[in-house]
Amino acid sequence: MRLDQYLATSTELSRKDAKKVITKGRVRVDCVPARSANMQVADNTLVELDGSQLHLPGDIYLMMNKPDGVISATTDSSQPTAVDLLPSQLASKVHIAGRLDKDTTGLLLLTSNGQWSHQVTSPRRDCPKTYQIQLVEPLSTEAKVKLETGVVLKDEDKPTLPATVAICAETTIELTINEGRYHQVKRMLAAVGNHVAGLHRLRIGAITLDPALAPGEYRELTEDEIRSIFGPT
Ligand code: URA
Repeated sequence: MRLDQYLATSTELSRKDAKKVITKGRVRVDCVPARSANMQVADNTLVELDGSQLHLPGDIYLMMNKPDGVISATTDSSQPTAVDLLPSQLASKVHIAGRLDKDTTGLLLLTSNGQWSHQVTSPRRDCPKTYQIQLVEPLSTEAKVKLETGVVLKDEDKPTLPATVAICAETTIELTINEGRYHQVKRMLAAVGNHVAGLHRLRIGAITLDPALAPGEYRELTEDEIRSIFGPT
């Protein structure tokens, strides 16, 4: 569809005002400022107004409180998946934006919008993820400093980016990381000589797991939550 039509469909702007914001250079298409209202954009094109991504009505954005024991996949022939917990009319349309291990619980985002999920998972986007961690042993001051500075994970060369650590109880911490390496949290704690006994994701960017959601339950994201994923490029 035409760019001005895309804007009029995805915002409160009239077609005329859509043309004006395009002319003013406030709209970017696939990260490039757009100047022409009649350029064609596909449904999955990245269109931003003032740095916030727009989405057409009809896209699906969900948060789920992932229970223990289900895998982060759309389908699997032998194991239950998080997507299996959704009604079939949603399950057939969404994919997972940022996987969790089978034994990790908490905030899982699911969407039909591939551009949006890319923002959640892209290493080039600084989308922090906060985990509550039950540790086998209390975290030493030395280990805390190491996590906050960056640790080298087993079989890797490059240290992790500095993380934020909050001590909540003797063996409970909250760790915020800005990357998504394989089993990153468990490997970070192993790298400082500790061990994760329980892992629960609390937050992705500004999206916090809704405390009203019991394990396995889901809800739609609010407009603010959807938009919060897109910072300035
Ligand atoms: N880090 C892990 O080790 N596991 C997860 O599920 C998420 C982050």
